Amino acid sequence: MRPTGAALGADVEGVDLANLTDAEFAVIHQAWLDHMVLRLRNQHIDDAAHVALGRRFGELDFNPGTRLTGKVYVEGFPEIVKISNIVENGKPVGELGAGEADWHSDMCFIETPPSASLLRSLEIPPEGGDTSWMNMEAAYAGLPEELKRAVVGRSIKHDAVYVSSGRQRPGTVAPASGDIRDIAGAVHPIVRTHPLTGRKSLYLGKRHNAYVMGMEVAESERLLDALWAHALGGDFTWTQHWRVGDMMIWDNRCTMHQRGAFDSGARRLLHRVVVKGQKPA
Ligand code: SIN
Repeated sequence: MRPTGAALGADVEGVDLANLTDAEFAVIHQAWLDHMVLRLRNQHIDDAAHVALGRRFGELDFNPGTRLTGKVYVEGFPEIVKISNIVENGKPVGELGAGEADWHSDMCFIETPPSASLLRSLEIPPEGGDTSWMNMEAAYAGLPEELKRAVVGRSIKHDAVYVSSGRQRPGTVAPASGDIRDIAGAVHPIVRTHPLTGRKSLYLGKRHNAYVMGMEVAESERLLDALWAHALGGDFTWTQHWRVGDMMIWDNRCTMHQRGAFDSGARRLLHRVVVKGQKPA
């Protein structure tokens, strides 16, 4: 185990994910709780091994596209979503394209957001498309007292209808009023407690169309802007420069992540599974 030396993350070395023993998995599971994000390099495993590894963390969930429209990205493995900009026969093979993906926690807008995400790289562009993670326990611990007081007992509604780019998710209904308070989405506490470690973290989900329940919209925007400025302004992150064969495993309960843009003419393809979580508390 080699910690990155940054606010979170560690490299796990000397294991073969295709032939993982129970003892090795126990070490990985503990390291995941300790370091929040794990990188395992040179893991050229197939989809069956990827799904099997995910299931060792818990029951797998379906990505939003599959949940809402039944779309399957990999025949025989409905729990896998392709993250890719590749277009075949005029159709994107996966999600997210080549643009920047804003900071977020996976599927924060459902009632039981995933505990773990496992993302493995199959094709990587020569430049760009790096992914960064943020330690939200450190972000919470570093909150100025005034902001700590402002979030006590408060919850955020996380927009389930629109993605950060403003595009509406297929299979969702937009509110006729156009008011962010009327957008459908799950409501979760701003400060959540990790069910396994007992540690507290800031749970911001994603910025776009977030709303602090019970506040006037302007007041909610001010509080969210202050919380995001604090999180983005601190030294809470670590960045992964991808190689083919990398497996990243992260804890969605106490981290956020962001993906940088890359040349849309280059190919990038990753497969991801997510593990069902509990309602944040
Ligand atoms: C994701 O947001 O889960 C994908 C990150 C990436 O494309 O590196």
